[in-house]
Amino acid sequence: MSKFYITTPLYYVNSKPHIGHSYTNIAVDALSRFYRMKGYDVFFMTGTDEHGEKIERAALAKGLKEGEEKKFVDEIVLTFKNLWHKIDVQYDYFIRTTDDYHIKSVQVILDKLYKEGNIYKKIYKGWFCTPCETFWSDAQSDDGLCPDCKRQLEKLDEENYFFKMSEYQNWLIDHVNSNPAFIKPDFRKNEVLGFLKEPLLDLCISRPKSRMSWGIEIPFDKNFVTYVWFDALINYISGIGYPHDMARFKKYWPADFHIIGKDILRHHAVYWPVMLHALGIEPPNTIFAHGWWVVKGEKMSKSKGNVIEPLKLIEDYGIDAYRYFLLREVSFGLDGTFSEETLILRYNSDLANDLGNLLNRTLTMVEKYFEGKVPEVKGQSSNVKGAEELKTKAISLAEELNDAMPQLDFAGVLSKIWDVINTANKLIEDSKPWALSKEKKADELASLLYSLLEALRIISLSIYPFMPSASRSIMAQLGIKEDTEKMKLADIKVWGRLKTAAKVNKSKPLFPRIET
Ligand code: MSP
Repeated sequence: MSKFYITTPLYYVNSKPHIGHSYTNIAVDALSRFYRMKGYDVFFMTGTDEHGEKIERAALAKGLKEGEEKKFVDEIVLTFKNLWHKIDVQYDYFIRTTDDYHIKSVQVILDKLYKEGNIYKKIYKGWFCTPCETFWSDAQSDDGLCPDCKRQLEKLDEENYFFKMSEYQNWLIDHVNSNPAFIKPDFRKNEVLGFLKEPLLDLCISRPKSRMSWGIEIPFDKNFVTYVWFDALINYISGIGYPHDMARFKKYWPADFHIIGKDILRHHAVYWPVMLHALGIEPPNTIFAHGWWVVKGEKMSKSKGNVIEPLKLIEDYGIDAYRYFLLREVSFGLDGTFSEETLILRYNSDLANDLGNLLNRTLTMVEKYFEGKVPEVKGQSSNVKGAEELKTKAISLAEELNDAMPQLDFAGVLSKIWDVINTANKLIEDSKPWALSKEKKADELASLLYSLLEALRIISLSIYPFMPSASRSIMAQLGIKEDTEKMKLADIKVWGRLKTAAKVNKSKPLFPRIET
């Protein structure tokens, strides 16, 4: 069985998750569900990044004392886990950087790199951005401000350990150039190559305990802890068994995808592959950086009070609408503007009007004309004009998904699924089932309704990666008893799976219209 190993970033636990965090996890969940449907052995890992100054400060601000950080992070971790369960994010493993095996893995790696001469000590004179947990040189600092987040940097002048990243610059440039799928989208690859035009500086990988002690102790010097990014990136291999379960590690590595936000591209596409290369481990196959959700043109931040809370949106519009909106509204890779008004527009047009209506009117007709049972088709479905087109379009969705999902083109494939939904709605308008009934054309009516039901079965399977609970509900209403989780991509390709005479179960509208 082919494996598919996919990861999300590990989220900082300084505050509760917001819509940006949920975006990555929903995208990775959709991909994982798709690959499970394809029959792959999927390993979807997410988790939390729990060390470092930013977390320590958040814990202290909550009134905890130094040494009590773990209490603080334990609570926030629950809010992440809870959200993933609420929004149908079905991960296989949740890693925390405070887990024992992860700490050991980081220390084994540090020891190895140190012994092999990849780590050395020197005075660090430069800048540090605590909100970004990133070191910057004099040349990079923007008049004392962080070049990324524009907040005030702190001047550092202290002894630290450094990782010899500079030695691997040429290797990395070659690797990026000779592996076109390594950094995606392509414009992000160019961004990294641009960055690599400047000499790569060695990476400071420690913090003196006297300044900040909430981290993984450096195994060869007890006065230091590990720099949080060096610690966190290692999760991608420690979580699958490096070095304590090498059989599992070899089964899943290299990762097929690291999905990240554009803000952490450099850490993933520069630091991480170089760390792996120095360890003699091959790089991941693809690092895909998606865009950011902004609100009224501005970054979300607590101080601006414009942070969008997923839980409130789910309460108001439901899990499926939330997931659908994020993946449909903006092409994955680009930035998007979040507003509740656009969410409502999409909801009413795509979910209530198109999909919800198709399901509702089809089932109403099955109840009215066929006693709520899947009608038997006598003769050819081509008796009904337009039914063949619907069938061809519907079964082609398997290929559409197969092409689009590895490219992370969620918006593109959703629009193809909606094309089938609209074709089905148009078929109802054009073939006028109410007239067929009046004219007693029972065979044509049966054929038409069977086509609509079968198209709905295929649609429900195709939306499964994006809206698993809507998919389940449509299946149940169509009277399908099999477990949705066991459905395969091959079930989309075959027309005629619905069993004649099976009882449908029309229930209340899946997506009731939202009146504004
Ligand atoms: N802890 C690091 C990642 C370490 S990975 C080994 C980190 N954490 S974070 O919590 O600050 O952000 C993680 C990710 O959340 C971002 O890369 C991005 O994927 C996502 N997002 C956070 N805010 C976002 C938006 N406003 N919009 C979209 N995604 C954003 O960085």
